[in-house]
Order: sequence, then C-alpha cells, then structure tokens
Amino acid sequence: MSPLPSPKFKNPRAKYNFRGRTCSIAGVGAYVPSRILTNADLEKMVNTSDEWITSRTGIKERHLAAEDEFTSDLAAKAALKAMAQAGVTAEEIDLIVVATITPDMPFPSTAALVQRKIGARRAAAFDLEAACAGFIYALEVAQQFIMSRTYDTVLVIGAEKLSSIVDWQDRNTCVLFGDGAGAAILRNRPNAHGLLTAVMGADGTKSDLLFMAGGGSRCPASEESVANRMHFLRMEGKETFKCAVQAMQTAAKEALRRCELDISRIKLIIPHQANLRIIDAVAERLGAKPEQVFVNLHKFGNTSAASVAIALDEAVNSGRVQAGDLLLLIVFGAGLTWGAAVIEW
Ligand code: ACO
Repeated sequence: MSPLPSPKFKNPRAKYNFRGRTCSIAGVGAYVPSRILTNADLEKMVNTSDEWITSRTGIKERHLAAEDEFTSDLAAKAALKAMAQAGVTAEEIDLIVVATITPDMPFPSTAALVQRKIGARRAAAFDLEAACAGFIYALEVAQQFIMSRTYDTVLVIGAEKLSSIVDWQDRNTCVLFGDGAGAAILRNRPNAHGLLTAVMGADGTKSDLLFMAGGGSRCPASEESVANRMHFLRMEGKETFKCAVQAMQTAAKEALRRCELDISRIKLIIPHQANLRIIDAVAERLGAKPEQVFVNLHKFGNTSAASVAIALDEAVNSGRVQAGDLLLLIVFGAGLTWGAAVIEW
C-alpha cells in the first residue's frame, strides 16, 4: 500500500498503529418529511410569535412526520440515499447503528427495523442513545469496528420523530423541535484519513435539565403518567443553553488540539442545530469566521440525533465540502452528552 501523503495535521490514531486503515465517510443522505410547520402555524397553537421564535432561536420552520410515518421510515429513506452515494448495496452492510431518542418502540431496536426495510440481511443492528450528541457517538462506535477490522462497511444513522414526544401545549419547547434523519456509510478508504478523532463526554449530574420522565422502568405508562403529561420532553432552557455553549467549545478545542489544528484550518464547522445563539456563541469562542459555520436550523429546527447528520448531507451535497477539506462537527444534548469530531473529507 502506498504511504499517505505527508500529513497536514496530526492523525491522533497514528499512535495506535492503524496503518493502512481509515474510517472514512463514503456517502451521506438525509430525509425530512414533507409536512412543514411554520412559526405562523405555531402562533395559532400556543402563545408565541414568529418574532420571539426567530430572535431567540433562529428557527423559522420545521418538518413533521405523518401519523403513519415513524423514525425507522425516516431512517431507511436517509440510509438508501447514503448507500446510493457510496455505491454500497444492502448486502454489503456489516452493521447498522441508529442514534435516536424516539425509537419506533422501546424494543426491538429501530436499527433492526431499518435493517428489514433496506434489506441489509447480513448486518448486525443496534440503537445508541446519546440524545442530540448521538450521531458523533455513533460515528465513534462505528470507527472502532472499522479500525479493528471487525467490519468493513457500517451504516450510521441519526433519526428522530421528536414530534411524538413534544408537548404541543408547552411553548417553551414545542417551537424548538422537528423530525428528520441523516445517514452516513463508513468504510475503510485507502490513502485517506477520514474520521481523525471524536471527542465524547457526558455529565449525568445534570440529567434533570432535559428529560422525558414517563415510559421507562421508573415511570411506566399509566393513567396518572398520561394525565401528568409525563410522556413529553421537558427542558430547563436557560441552564441547558449555558451548558451547551461551554461543553461544545471545550469538546471542539480538545478535538482540534488532538489533531494539532488551528481553527483557521477548518473548512466548515457543522454544529448541532439547536439554537442560532448557541452556534454564534460557540463560533465566537472558537475564533471562527461566519463563513466557516454551517447553519440550516431555520429550515428544520432541532432534530436531535439527526441534526448534524442532516446538516452534513446538505453541506456535502450543496458543494460546500470538497475532497481533502477538514470538517469540525460539534454536538450537545440531554444526559448531558456532548462531542466533537474532526473529519478529513
Ligand atoms: N414564545 C414566547 N415566549 C416564550 C416562548 C415562546 N415560544 N418560550 C418561552 N417564552 C418566554 C418564557 O416563558 C420567558 O418568559 P418569562 O420571562 O415571563 O418567564 C421568556 O420567554 C424568556 O424565556 P427564557 O427561557 O429565558 O428564554 P431563552 O432566551 O433562554 O431561550 C430557549 C429559550 C430557546 C429554549 C433557549 O434557552 C435554548 O435554546 N436552550 C438550549 C436548547 C438546547 O440546546 N437543547 C439541547 C439539545 S436538545 C436534546 O438533546 C433533545
């Protein structure tokens, strides 16, 4: 195998002697449902205004799945697009990892349902739950299997039907979220670097900032849990906001440090699309220029685990990312959980 060209950055994996092996994204895809809910629509549902939502979050509209359209449907549609772009057949997929907080049902896993829908008969399949940070967690998990030569082709999906756990009477949260899915095919690609590093972190002491109390072993569904609206997500917005800015910038700086990269070398930062003010604050603390930051939350709102996956798909397929570009993905979510990844495209 020919040696890699002299590095433009440090490859943190080199110390593990992963010579001739990379975890590269061979194709991406995304799918959002067709129904759009605008801020004007929300004005008719709760006491809010387009002005408040736009100025406090940057969100203008979000896509909502139909009643008979589930997380696995969104995930499968995104997956098929990623497979087409990568030139990978269903038979070639070794593993499917779906990051989601809105599985079709508690079990079986949404990944198993996707496996059936796309016909990936050979693939192992499981879900991963790290809320809005799920996509980077899933990328890192996939990388471990590929770098260890356990698997050659892994399908990673972030998919959510958040509309199924949003309390449409709670103006504090219902304006923020949307449905959708993003997918990536990960493979070993000779003479590339691919996923250079992925930082992951969590702080369970702050698990009460963002949660859904009902439906688990602690509070199974009952008349009381339904009456108390416990099957909807709840969020302490202000405190979550502060934690997000802190954790995202810290994770991003750690990822850059590991690769010995200055922020100016990053072509595109793709942050979790929760709130434009969070994105701006993180970009400022990283010393990034506005043109380095990818934003599409005005169209989709916060789609949790699907968020950076959908954004990555749009960035790549709109031509903003070229081979050899360096990308910085940054995520934050319930748990709390967070992460940052550096990818050479
Ligand atoms: N329309 C009008 N007024 C509203 C609305 C609304 N939709 N929502 C809240 N308000 C009101 C509040 O009631 C409050 O009124 P009060 O002062 O009379 O009590 C006022 O607006 C200000 O509320 P704040 O909570 O202080 O508003 P803030 O500027 O913090 O913005 C927001 C709220 C958008 C939720 C913000 O805090 C945020 O984005 N937080 C982080 C979200 C996030 O990153 N989540 C993590 C990922 S999600 C996941 O993992 C699933």
